[in-house]
Amino acid sequence: MKFAIAYFSETGTTKQAAERLGQVLKVTPLAIEATVPYTNADLNWQNDNSRANREQSGQATPPTAKPLTLPDFNVLFLGYPTWWGVPPMVIHDFLAHQTLAGKVVVPFATSGSSSPERGEAIIKQLLPKSDVKPAKRVNNFSVAQLKAWVQQLGY
Ligand SMILES: Cc1cc2nc3c(=O)[nH]c(=O)nc-3n(C[C@H](O)[C@H](O)[C@H](O)COP(=O)(O)O)c2cc1C
Repeated sequence: MKFAIAYFSETGTTKQAAERLGQVLKVTPLAIEATVPYTNADLNWQNDNSRANREQSGQATPPTAKPLTLPDFNVLFLGYPTWWGVPPMVIHDFLAHQTLAGKVVVPFATSGSSSPERGEAIIKQLLPKSDVKPAKRVNNFSVAQLKAWVQQLGY
């Protein structure tokens, strides 16, 4: 089985989980980046007019992701923070430019408190031809916890 990890992370939480998961799966996680980087002000969820909030609510043009070439894989672990209950819009653009039909996609999310189910439903909508596994919230998961989760998935 060949694995790949792609993740979006603005404040490091999802990145940490991705790196630990990389230790478990023995692959280097690849960062998904917005073409136009986010500033701190862009990420202010307490401001209705912040870029992230306007993007997530459909008031602003969706962001694009920098092109990212994934290595050959069967199973993609896809990481992202939860923004307003769902994946950041940049994930939509990232997925639109990958060929994921027939592949397994395993979403992993971090959040302040939100559970990952709504995000999972979005990923399933975006990838109707992929085998999307249940999303896991992985805040502060240790390498051992991530390893246990990967084993539960059957890998
Ligand atoms: C614009 C924005 C919206 C957010 N919305 C939620 C949310 O709906 N529920 C939640 O639990 N956390 C929310 N958060 C918190 C992030 O999900 C959390 O801090 C996440 O772990 C950040 O991941 P990162 O450090 O990899 O960027 C939000 C953060 C931002 C910037």
